Amino acid sequence: MAIRNIRVLGDDILNKKSKYVSEMNDKLKVLINDMLETMYNAAGVGLAAPQVGVLKRVVVIDVTEEGNNPIILINPEITDEQGEQTGNEGCLSVPDKVGKVTRPEYVRIKALDENMQPVEYEGNGLLARAFVHEIEHLDGKLYVDKVEGRLYDVDELKEGDE
Ligand code: NI
Repeated sequence: MAIRNIRVLGDDILNKKSKYVSEMNDKLKVLINDMLETMYNAAGVGLAAPQVGVLKRVVVIDVTEEGNNPIILINPEITDEQGEQTGNEGCLSVPDKVGKVTRPEYVRIKALDENMQPVEYEGNGLLARAFVHEIEHLDGKLYVDKVEGRLYDVDELKEGDE
């Protein structure tokens, strides 16, 4: 496994649409493992393949404190969403920034797992937010375009609530 370079805001690849994965192969397995290592190393809760420069519909997510419950998604799609939550969101491609974004409170998704078997997940709160955020990366969308108000520096936010 290896830590990959995370592309940051301003890199054109982050605005491109990723391609559907049609079969699993060794190169993709390496990519998935590297994405997990890269996400954990950066203390992120999710990472999409375009963030490491690969335009394929592959996402990894882990919203647990312990970082021991990875979710691997190939070709993920949202199949249901309900409710609304508004809260701070960040992205490993926008280092040290956060912004307020409204997302569904609940989402259901379908995808393929790392063995190309169909899987479904439901998520509330942070997990729902992560599903939507990461799937949007696959369509070249970044949360910064949906921020209500302005982007804050992480340090600035620690000083107190607005
Ligand atoms: Ni992101």
